[in-house]
Amino acid sequence: MSLSVVSSRAASSLLPGAVSSAPSGHGFSQMSSIGYVSKVGNGQALGCKASSEFLGLALKAVRISGGLQKPWVRHLCRAALAPEVEAVVGKQAWRSKSPKDTNVMIVGATGYIGKFVVKEMVKRGYNVIAVAREKSGIGGKADAEQTIKDFPGATVLFADVSDMDSISSALQSSKTNVDVVISCLASRTGGKKDSWKIDYQATRNSLDAGVANGASHFVLLSAICVQKPLLEFQKAKLKFEAELASHGNGLTYSIVRPTAFFKSLGGQVQSVQGGGPYVMFGDGKLCACKPISEADLASFISDCVSDVEKANQMLPIGGPGKALTPLEQGEMLFKIVGKDPKFIKVPIGVMDFVIGVLDNLSKVFPNLEDAAEFGKIGRYYAAESMLVMDPETQKYDADGTPSYGTDTLEAFFDRCVREGMAGQELGDQAVF
Ligand SMILES: NC(=O)c1ccc[n+]([C@@H]2O[C@H](COP(=O)([O-])OP(=O)(O)OC[C@H]3O[C@@H](n4cnc5c(N)ncnc54)[C@H](OP(=O)(O)O)[C@@H]3O)[C@@H](O)[C@H]2O)c1
Repeated sequence: MSLSVVSSRAASSLLPGAVSSAPSGHGFSQMSSIGYVSKVGNGQALGCKASSEFLGLALKAVRISGGLQKPWVRHLCRAALAPEVEAVVGKQAWRSKSPKDTNVMIVGATGYIGKFVVKEMVKRGYNVIAVAREKSGIGGKADAEQTIKDFPGATVLFADVSDMDSISSALQSSKTNVDVVISCLASRTGGKKDSWKIDYQATRNSLDAGVANGASHFVLLSAICVQKPLLEFQKAKLKFEAELASHGNGLTYSIVRPTAFFKSLGGQVQSVQGGGPYVMFGDGKLCACKPISEADLASFISDCVSDVEKANQMLPIGGPGKALTPLEQGEMLFKIVGKDPKFIKVPIGVMDFVIGVLDNLSKVFPNLEDAAEFGKIGRYYAAESMLVMDPETQKYDADGTPSYGTDTLEAFFDRCVREGMAGQELGDQAVF
C-alpha cells in the first residue's frame, strides 16, 4: 500500500498539524473530518470514511517504524489537498485574483502579533482592512490618528468587534467586500469574562460579519496550549475553533497554534542585566518551548492566505532551533550579558498554595475570581511545555513541533540587552 494524501481525523492523531490533535471533549471530537484518500494495491482511490480504519492502521505502522520522522513521509502527507477541500477552494473566486484585488480584513490588528500581520500583508500587496478601536493598544494608549499612522498602506476601519452591530454596520457603510478574515484577537487580560467576550464572542462576530460580506477563508491566531485546556481563555478559543472548523458553507480555515512569543520570555532581561538572578520553577526543566518572533509568525499567518495546502488545517508552529527550557534560556541570557549565572529555583508547590488560597477566597469574594485565574495562567506556563503534545502518550514532543522562520531567541535577547524592551510589553495584567 502506498499513501497518497492524508488530511484526516484518523491521521490527525499521528500527524502534527492536522485536525483534532487535541484531546476530545473540548469540541474537537465534533470537528469536521476533512476526509482522506489512500491508494491501495491497484492505485484506486478509496472514499473517505470507509477506509479510515485501514488508513489509521497503516499510518500507525508507518509511525511505529519511525516513518513519520522521515521528511519524505511528511512531504507525502502534506503534498496534496483532499478532494473535499479542493472542491471548496476551487469555488473561491478570490484565490485566482492578485493580492491587490484581494480584500483581507484583519481583526486584532493593533495587538503584538496583529500589527506585524498588517505590515506583512501590506508588504505582500494585499488590500488590507485593519479593524481597530478608537482607543487601542495596552491601556488604550493609541488614539485613532496614531493607529492610522501606524498602518501605512492599509485602510483602517474603526469598529468594536465585541458588538455585532458595530462591526456589521462599519463594514456595510464602508461598502467593502471581504475575501479573507484574519483574526489576531485576544483578551488583553486573560480574565474569565473577558476571554469569553473576545477569544470567543468577538472572534465569532468577526467571522459572521466577514462571511456576511463575502469572506470565504478565515485565518485564526490561536495558541498551542489549547491542546491541554485547563484555563478559561483556552476553553473559549477551543469553542470558536470547533465552530470555525465545522462551519462549512464554502468557508475554509487555517487555525494557527503558535508556541511561545518572545515577549513572554523577555521578562527577566532587564533584571539579569542589572545583576539580578534568573527566577525559575523547579529545576528549570519542567517545560520547554520553541519561541517564535512576531515577524516570523506574521509571515506564517500570511502564508495561510496564499498557500492552499494550509486550507482546513490545524497548524502548530514554533520558531527555529531546538526547544529551550527556562534553565537554558537563563544560561543563554547570562552568557549574553557577560555575567556568572545566578538562579533562584522556586518550588512549583508555592504557586499551587497561592492559587488554592485565591480559589477559596474567590468563592466568598467573587471579584477575586480573575486573580485566581491569573495565578492559574502563571502556573500553567511555569510547568506546561509549549510544544505539540502526542495525543497517545500525552507527552510533549519537541521533534514533532514544526519550526518556521529565522529569528532566534538568542538574537532577541541580544537586541533587548542593547536596545531595551520597547514593543515587548505584556498585556493589561502583565500575564501574557
Ligand atoms: N504570549 C504568548 O506567548 C502566546 C503564545 C502562543 C499564542 N498566543 C496567542 O496569541 C494571540 C494574540 O496575542 P497578542 O499578544 O498579539 O495579543 P494582544 O497584543 O493582547 O492583542 C490583542 C488584540 O485583541 C484586541 N482586543 C482585545 N480586547 C478587545 C476588546 N474588548 N474589543 C476589541 N478588541 C479587543 C486588541 O485591541 P486593542 O489594541 O484595541 O486593545 C488587540 O488588537 C492570543 O490568542 C494568545 O493566546 C500567545
